[in-house]
Amino acid sequence: MSLADRVLYPDFLSRTMTADEAAALIPAGAHVGMSGFTGAGYPKAVPGALARRIESLNAQGHGFKIGLWTGASTAPELDGALAQVDGIEMRLPYQSDPTVRRQINAGQMQYVDIHLSHVAQFVWFGFLGKLDVAVVEVAGVLPDGRLIPSSSVGNNKTWLDQADKVILEVNAWHNPQLEGMHDIYYGTDRPPHRKPIPMTRPDERIGEPYLRCDPNKVIAVVMTNQPDRNSVYAAPDDTSNRIAGHIIEFLQHEVKKGRLPKDLLPLQSGVGNIANAVLAGLNNGPFENLTAYTEVLQDGMLDMLRSGKLASASATALSLSPTAMQDFNDRIDFYKERIVLRPQEISNHPELIRRMGLIAMNGMIEADIYGNVNSTHIMGSAIMNGIGGSGDFARNAYLSIFMTPSLAKNGSISCIVPMASHVDHTEHDVQILVTEQGLADLRGHSPSQRAEIIIDRCAHPDFRPALHDYVARAKRGAVGQHTPHLLNEALSWHQRYVETGSMRAPAGPASAA
Ligand code: COA
Repeated sequence: MSLADRVLYPDFLSRTMTADEAAALIPAGAHVGMSGFTGAGYPKAVPGALARRIESLNAQGHGFKIGLWTGASTAPELDGALAQVDGIEMRLPYQSDPTVRRQINAGQMQYVDIHLSHVAQFVWFGFLGKLDVAVVEVAGVLPDGRLIPSSSVGNNKTWLDQADKVILEVNAWHNPQLEGMHDIYYGTDRPPHRKPIPMTRPDERIGEPYLRCDPNKVIAVVMTNQPDRNSVYAAPDDTSNRIAGHIIEFLQHEVKKGRLPKDLLPLQSGVGNIANAVLAGLNNGPFENLTAYTEVLQDGMLDMLRSGKLASASATALSLSPTAMQDFNDRIDFYKERIVLRPQEISNHPELIRRMGLIAMNGMIEADIYGNVNSTHIMGSAIMNGIGGSGDFARNAYLSIFMTPSLAKNGSISCIVPMASHVDHTEHDVQILVTEQGLADLRGHSPSQRAEIIIDRCAHPDFRPALHDYVARAKRGAVGQHTPHLLNEALSWHQRYVETGSMRAPAGPASAA
């Protein structure tokens, strides 16, 4: 497919150039908004060219860095390439690149971890300073200059709107039939001019299929022909199958009790293998005619759409394995009728999540005995990825579910601890905790009651006695009985892990002291 087939706006043809030429237009110190969301729809060529430029300038002592804003995590060709040349001064929001993670944890890169629904509006509000350049991948350009989005929408609407200058990457690898799958809503405004967002169902379209962009701002058009860096999912193992089983049993119970309709409520499913296993469980489960209002569309959701278990899905990005991506392209007409891709400020909008009453299911690193959840930090200090959309969904969902295996690192870590070493979701936003051991329904329970339920249902049996022992002693020694803690012991399990490589006490399976 030639340039002329993809770029139908005549004026842009004279602005086409190589990635190196386009990267030369990005100044040092610029805030750069790049497309990309979980390895989908990120620019494939300009970031690498920019990294080469930074490397060569920094070798001459220039100290060239940029502020990098994205939709969420991207790919080694973007985050990895720029981090490897030490080219990122500040990064936001969610990331999952090993080099970026290492630099953040070494204190060499600033990282601002904000809710994904907040990013766009923080830019409109001016909270993050001026956006200088947008680098956005699209699938094509219409004759009037409007843009056909590619495999993720993320913050692209905001980048194109707010940036002074725009570099477009037109990726001919994307299926041209993506056109029409997106729904870009232009009705947002700043307080006090905000109006309700007119959506009541996940499959509703409230915007237009194209991104708008002032053509005068476009300083470069770069052609690419490269696949997304697709996700790879492990086949569900026994642990994730058991977690899925507990969730499905719980949902059936809620239907029986009349607290959920037979076709449930719209599903939100977080990133990772456990989330994918839950979707596989739902695909083989008893529920029909389900809907999804979520952030990323994983393999499991395509399977559910094909089987008919899932009637429709709304997301901001495709996060598919190579096999699922192939299937998506092969049957794009089928999927187009059932999938809507939206900007992330809409896919993650608290107003819509609350209105539609989502069932939010997200992974976590650890939870404490009172139900506070840590989604982001190892041993309270080292960032893993970021909060992503988990806070948008957890705070506002109809049911907020967090899940993890009960043990990590070959059993040396208990994922249920006396006190979470970092808190992303407080006990007030966490209703259900699930491990392979069981499910703790925390609704309507006080902190002391929660502690008993969480320990008995979710903690690994090896760690249960020590957790019960901690609670018993905290009840005797704490200043108050509402949420009893022994302050000098609360984080001792983490400290022991840091010192010895295990939360298990040397003398026995585990002890709180
Ligand atoms: N203490 C220390 N390390 C732990 C741990 C704990 N309690 N629990 C897990 N880990 C480690 C794992 O060993 C693994 O380490 P490795 O990368 O060195 O192998 C790593 O954390 C990831 O754990 P894993 O079991 O592979 O989990 P996952 O892929 O299901 O991811 C989160 C779990 C929490 C990291 C992930 O869900 C996340 O980033 N969540 C926040 C964002 C979010 O929820 N987004 C979705 C909203 S739409």
